[in-house]
Amino acid sequence: MSRVAVVTGSNKGIGFSIVKLLCQRFDGVVYLTSRDVERGKEAVKKLEELGLHPNFHQLDVAVRSSVEIFKHYLEENYGGIDILINNAAVVDAGFKTCSFDEAKRVIDINYRSILTMHELIYPIVRNGGRILNISSDCGHLSNIRNKFWIEKLSKQDLSVSDVNEFVEWFLESKKNGTFNVDDIANGASVAAYRVSKVAVSAVTMIHQKEYDNKNISINSMHPGLVRTDMTAGVGFYNVDEAAQTPVYIVLDAPQSLKGAYVWFDRKVIDWYDYNADYYFKMKTITG
Ligand SMILES: NC(=O)c1ccc[n+]([C@@H]2O[C@H](COP(=O)([O-])OP(=O)(O)OC[C@H]3O[C@@H](n4cnc5c(N)ncnc54)[C@H](OP(=O)(O)O)[C@@H]3O)[C@@H](O)[C@H]2O)c1
Repeated sequence: MSRVAVVTGSNKGIGFSIVKLLCQRFDGVVYLTSRDVERGKEAVKKLEELGLHPNFHQLDVAVRSSVEIFKHYLEENYGGIDILINNAAVVDAGFKTCSFDEAKRVIDINYRSILTMHELIYPIVRNGGRILNISSDCGHLSNIRNKFWIEKLSKQDLSVSDVNEFVEWFLESKKNGTFNVDDIANGASVAAYRVSKVAVSAVTMIHQKEYDNKNISINSMHPGLVRTDMTAGVGFYNVDEAAQTPVYIVLDAPQSLKGAYVWFDRKVIDWYDYNADYYFKMKTITG
């Protein structure tokens, strides 16, 4: 049975380069997935021109039926998968403020999709498999300034319902107009994105604990500031450079690397260090 790697949101950006590098290095079938079939097929064509041969499947991580269809397809054709990189994400349309609807869109795509993947796809990850959530420096706990939530998210017995409560607290504050910019670092720029990515990194550690008795590693990472559409082309790294550490984590890192929050230089960072300087600063993009 073929080994299988899947990368979500990989028709462009960092995900596309992860697929490219996996096609070069992974001994198995690599799935480039995209919510839009045309954009996905165009991306596959680009890699074929380089002599690489990813497979393609439609996947919108925010649409449950799309994830279900892909799960059944993978089960029927391969019996399971070996590597899953949850890469798909969006950022707040306005960097300074965002409406409730926009905040919900960001939370649904970036965070709640991980819960859907956990429910439907994690159970078909084979023994020895690896799952990597592409988080962000916006996903470090130091992005949160509200004392109640710092304390709650730092609990050793943190549960998925605690993390859900955290995102609900944020969404409620957006809905009823009580959102306080002092609760999120850096004047609460890209607040929904920060909340979604903090939730992604928090839930990564919870999911790892759940899978501890299986030989599956689940980590999250910050890929660095990378020149993509998400950053309007601003960044210190190109997408091929940015793909190196994610691929290292799923192919080369020791299987004992579990529940970690990894920086783009491969260092494991203390996610709980809420006073640290790891949080994202808007001026790195705006100058
Ligand atoms: N670039 C950076 O500096 C940076 C820094 C920290 C973290 N990250 C993280 O790195 C990852 C990749 O970001 P990027 O910079 O490569 O962004 P990007 O160029 O904007 O690519 C994002 C990808 O996600 C896809 N996507 C969005 N919503 C989706 C959905 N519902 N279902 C499936 N795919 C969806 C997009 O597809 P469409 O083409 O259809 O929109 C696109 O393929 C993200 O998790 C991001 O948060 C990036």
